[in-house]
Amino acid sequence: MTDAVSGPALSADPLLRWRPEFPILERATYLVSHSLGAMPKGAARRLQEYADTWATRGVRAWAEGWWRMPSTVGDAVGAIIGAAPGSVVMHQNVSICQSLILSCFDLGGRRNKIVYEDLNFPSVMYVYEAHRRLGARITMVKSEDGVTVPLERMLAAIDEDTLLVPLSHVVFKSGYVQDVAAVVRRAHEVGALVVADLYQSAGTVPVDVAAWDVDFATGGSVKWLCGGPGAGYLYVAPRLAGSLEPRITGWMAHEHPFDFSAGPVDYAADATRFLHGTPAVPALYAAGAGYEIVSAIGVPAIRRKSERQVQLIIDLARERGITPRTAPTARERGGMVILDVPHGEAVTRELIRREILVDFRPGAGIRLSPHFYTTDDEIRRAVEEIAAIRDSGEYARHQGTGGTGF
Ligand SMILES: Cc1ncc(COP(=O)(O)O)c(C=O)c1O
Repeated sequence: MTDAVSGPALSADPLLRWRPEFPILERATYLVSHSLGAMPKGAARRLQEYADTWATRGVRAWAEGWWRMPSTVGDAVGAIIGAAPGSVVMHQNVSICQSLILSCFDLGGRRNKIVYEDLNFPSVMYVYEAHRRLGARITMVKSEDGVTVPLERMLAAIDEDTLLVPLSHVVFKSGYVQDVAAVVRRAHEVGALVVADLYQSAGTVPVDVAAWDVDFATGGSVKWLCGGPGAGYLYVAPRLAGSLEPRITGWMAHEHPFDFSAGPVDYAADATRFLHGTPAVPALYAAGAGYEIVSAIGVPAIRRKSERQVQLIIDLARERGITPRTAPTARERGGMVILDVPHGEAVTRELIRREILVDFRPGAGIRLSPHFYTTDDEIRRAVEEIAAIRDSGEYARHQGTGGTGF
């Protein structure tokens, strides 16, 4: 395995010049950025900076930047997802962001219906399901093929009773790209609001929350943004923000937190009203390194490369008799490909043992994803190894020997 890419390979694929920034590429074939993006060296430098700041500035660090980090780091994410400065704040993860959005609404009235696809990320479903006890009614739109989501059925399910439509821009189980703008148009016709989960798109598929006119968006930094855990983000459309009062709240949401006034929260006029308590400062330091690289390259360039390499995986797999579970057109495919091979979980364990890092999802298959740092040779090697493991029966050694959960 080598991270040194030079000469013709580099002129054919200039994005490969970023490889030396990602140490794991020296020792593994890294095709798992849909789960955990590779760590940029800059993340370690920033964590050291965090420790140095704490050590040398002590409590002054809050006033010198830490307190504002949920907003300043939010702006860095905002630049990637098309959000205006001041409209994104950082939280730990998507689940808390979805809960926070829900906490802005009353589920006791007629408009308490939630519509989402059955391919939505389960943690998001768990949040909405738990709100049935406060009155939420849930309509789950079924996928016919386990890959795509029928847009017409999504649109038809959204009616005057619908409060929220939380949908994944890119589906975690299949890489299918949903038409968020079409869902927003329908939702707004009937007074419903849309929450776009950008976790599987931001950083690899272009996102423009302002152009979509979406009401809320959320996602995290663990995957395509190469920002590590603990840096989830919440976008609230500026036209809505001032009228919402989340019940999940705390002193960071207060207009004057340092008055320490007793009684109810006086919500801040800006997006900090969507914060609550003390932020996870180290995670916010670490995350910035990934955003910087993604922003320097630009998502359109990442997408062009991704489309080409996703097609390469599909073509190579088909040549070897492996079925890709993927949307029919390039436009509808995000950055990952699912390959359906018998005993996929055991094959995945053997691939990981061979330093080819991918993962497996039940009911889907082996998930592989190229990112801007991936070479075509790595893709060829991975698909060849999958076919070889399948043909040799080598996977049998790994049947039932523990999960590939992450
Ligand atoms: C589409 C999608 N949403 C959300 C998550 C994770 O949610 P959370 O940030 O709450 O852990 C994932 C992780 O795999 C995901 O793929």
